[in-house]
Amino acid sequence: MSDLTYTKELMKHFKNPKYVKDVKNANAVGEVGNIHCGDIMHLELKINEKTKKIEDIGFQTFGCPAAVASSDVVCGLAKGKTLEQAKKISKDDIVKELGGMPPIKLHCSVLGIEALHKAIDDYEKKKKRLIT
Ligand code: FES
Repeated sequence: MSDLTYTKELMKHFKNPKYVKDVKNANAVGEVGNIHCGDIMHLELKINEKTKKIEDIGFQTFGCPAAVASSDVVCGLAKGKTLEQAKKISKDDIVKELGGMPPIKLHCSVLGIEALHKAIDDYEKKKKRLIT
């Protein structure tokens, strides 16, 4: 693979992302920017209050193909997981799902994970405020 060649799997997620959408009744939001390029990622979650599982997830990204594809994969991996399970999703999991990624684009693969962590954090902080 040359330094800028994307895998078929990555292009599939970029051209036809399943999770580019608004989440109805979202109860957590995460927004992050990539310091390397200025791209932005907005992610929404609908978390089940009882099971703490991610029932629905969606994102919008102003970013490159690697960022869009990575974010789509993050959403697919996180959906149906508990918050604790979702926190464990790693950059390696994303790259593996995509069949690899050009090394110079690896920084793009963390955008979705960071937004997911921020959304979970947002949810947990809101819950804490309700308790105290
Ligand atoms: Fe900005 Fe990939 S170049 S996220």
